[in-house]
Amino acid sequence: MDPNKRPDDMQRINTPELAQAFIDEQVQAVREQAGDGKVLLALSGGVDSSVVAALLIKAIGKNLICVHVNHGLMRKGESEQVIDVFQNQMDANLVYVDATDRFLNLLDGVDEPEAKRKIIGGEFIRVFEEEARKVGDEVDFLAQGTIYPDILESQDGVKAHHNVGGLPEDLQFELVEPVKLLFKDEVREVGRALGLPEGMVERQPFPGPGLGVRCLGAITRDRLEALREADAIVREEMEAANVGAWQYFAVVPDVRATGVRDGVRAYEWPAIIRAINTVDVMTAEVPELDWALLKRMTDRITHEVPGICRVAYDLTPKPVGTVEWE
Ligand code: XMP
Repeated sequence: MDPNKRPDDMQRINTPELAQAFIDEQVQAVREQAGDGKVLLALSGGVDSSVVAALLIKAIGKNLICVHVNHGLMRKGESEQVIDVFQNQMDANLVYVDATDRFLNLLDGVDEPEAKRKIIGGEFIRVFEEEARKVGDEVDFLAQGTIYPDILESQDGVKAHHNVGGLPEDLQFELVEPVKLLFKDEVREVGRALGLPEGMVERQPFPGPGLGVRCLGAITRDRLEALREADAIVREEMEAANVGAWQYFAVVPDVRATGVRDGVRAYEWPAIIRAINTVDVMTAEVPELDWALLKRMTDRITHEVPGICRVAYDLTPKPVGTVEWE
């Protein structure tokens, strides 16, 4: 039997009872595979790695070593939530690496989107590799949040399936991939049954380079901070209004616009609200947001976020635009 093929008769996990049965089965399987060995996991805070972390904590407790790399480009409260959920609530063995300065120093003055993406991706692997080397001698297994669409896509040649990817050859670990036969909705169901917070289980897709590709052009710390705050307001208001859009966030370009604040001339950045609906992300439509909601977000962002005096709503579908600006 091909371990990377989902059996035709495998039931869709769509109830808490089925999720619990899956958890019991996987806890047993992971215990058999890992024994008393130590397992390393890159925990981004995304749905897949979070569910794998929670599952492995249940199975092997402190023998799981989670590494969370904060590249300084996370959304507001995200790294804090990872620490709160996994360290404080689940008592996990969590290594938290604040690499903000490393990333922002490397990105200083770099304005070309692909160059930014390469720097962020490359540095991420280096930081994780350093942490892996620190514990390398004791570790025998590498856990990954591979899910079934990753396997299907790599088989179809759509994209190379690299979850942690790029670890040096001399760091050879056996893989632990407990959710590799599941679809995304099933991973979410399992996450709920494991007691993960709803905000984590229903988390929107977030690019690996994070806010780095939404703080357009050369990133500066003050504009990155303004973006993080504006983005938090967009998410809060869209959630409160229960819009149900597929993905929404803020973007802050590196241009400034004239405004008036407290009777004096202001010269500050604009924030752009981006929201889309999609089925497969190959194409996307822009939802017709309620006018009062748009006005509320504009009012809050321009009053609560230092450095932003203007707000625009991006009406561009994909194609011709992509979802992200960079
Ligand atoms: P685009 O901009 O290509 O985005 O229309 C399509 C979807 O992919 C997400 N995205 C990424 N996800 N790593 C990721 O894991 C990335 O580098 C990346 N770039 C874009 C984007 O947020 C959207 O959901």
